[in-house]
Amino acid sequence: MSKKLFIETLGCAMNSRDSEHIIAALKEKEGYETTSNLKEADLILINTCSVREKPVAKLFSELGVFNKKKKEGAKIGVCGCTASHLGDEIIKRAPYVNFVLGARNVSKITEVLHKNKAVEVDINYDESEFAFDDFRTSPYKAYINISIGCDKQCTFCIVPKTRGDEISIPDALIIQEAQRAVDNGAKEIFLLGQNVNNYGRRFSSSEHEKVNFTELLRRLSKIEGLKRIRFTSPHPFHMDDEFIKEFATNPKICKSMHMPLQSGSSKVLKDMKRGYTKEWFLNRVEKLRAMCPEVSISTDIIVAFPGESDADFEETIDVMKQVRFDQIFSFKYSPRPETQAQHFSDVVDPEVASERLSYLQALYTQLLDEKSQKQLGKVYKVYFEELNADGYVSGRSDNNLVIKTKGSEELLGEFRDVKITKIGRTIYTGEIVA
Ligand code: SAH
Ligand code: F3S
Repeated sequence: MSKKLFIETLGCAMNSRDSEHIIAALKEKEGYETTSNLKEADLILINTCSVREKPVAKLFSELGVFNKKKKEGAKIGVCGCTASHLGDEIIKRAPYVNFVLGARNVSKITEVLHKNKAVEVDINYDESEFAFDDFRTSPYKAYINISIGCDKQCTFCIVPKTRGDEISIPDALIIQEAQRAVDNGAKEIFLLGQNVNNYGRRFSSSEHEKVNFTELLRRLSKIEGLKRIRFTSPHPFHMDDEFIKEFATNPKICKSMHMPLQSGSSKVLKDMKRGYTKEWFLNRVEKLRAMCPEVSISTDIIVAFPGESDADFEETIDVMKQVRFDQIFSFKYSPRPETQAQHFSDVVDPEVASERLSYLQALYTQLLDEKSQKQLGKVYKVYFEELNADGYVSGRSDNNLVIKTKGSEELLGEFRDVKITKIGRTIYTGEIVA
């Protein structure tokens, strides 16, 4: 009988891809199969996120629960960004943990598995994401890493400390991986990196041809049978005209752009070391919408960064009103170890922080409701990816609306024109018209 792996994945899309890599290696080399039943698992893994404090605090209580519920002799491993930043501290606090594997050390999973109390958290280790056996959670959409680590120094962010310096994966490997995914039936690829449009800045070999992100997109779109390309996350600082033009004119690139604003105040942006101003951000949005009117724009916003005054927060609200984002991910600032901002004084009162977050989120829902009413009756080409309960199948439009319709598995991996019949906040309902 095969051994069983229970894996929980927290955090970003990159963690999801890392988990796929881990599953592939354990399947291929160790004969593991995945299970969703913790109690029958021989190996329990948590792939962690450390971007904000809360999930880190939750890790230890969750580990305690896993330790109680696990079957006799089962091993527990902690992977991902919290593994990178806490290292052997994890085993000190939870001595029943068998190993700790950092976000940049994924390829060492089969090594640490056989050692007792191994801690692999070297952020200079570079082989980790390059060539892996194939495992994909979904056959219809392929996540592909194009770079690892991050060279930016945003003062609030722990990621450069957990994932290390930025290195771009050679374009030939990316194209090969995309081709393989398409040969296996995927029509959509999803390119991943902390800062995708900085692609090409540094390769592990200095001899590698200088290929930037725009050129990578051009090369990938030549793959026959590949219909859609998505990516996350681009950085507003690197959104030059050439990139926006390629985005707008290349029919294979999905018209959905994530533009992490963080703050609408140029002063706060400077303190965050984001490298752009409010004006630059608005200018990029304007350029993008002028060239690509159908684009949907999502964003990340942090409220109550140290030193954020009422007037600074108003600037964020102003950008919200001007841009009318299609989706926002908003957070209260959370001080993180090993970041510059953790030492900043002028901390915002927690109550004010909560008020600002609630205000921002309420405004977002109001703006969204106004916008989404206009979708009624519109027709979108949907790529179906997921079977839902009660006889529905769901997928996404090119501009990233989640749309469901009555149907069964025959629709999976297929494109259909769907007319919107019912509006929802996160998911629309529609009927197939062609
Ligand atoms: N480059 C990545 C950023 C990863 S972190 C990307 O663009 O997706 C994802 C988001 O978490 C950030 O955009 C930011 O909005 C939020 N975040 C990061 N550090 C944070 C902190 N210390 N407190 C609150 N939110 C944070
Ligand atoms: Fe973090 Fe800024 Fe990089 S948000 S991941 S340091 S671009």
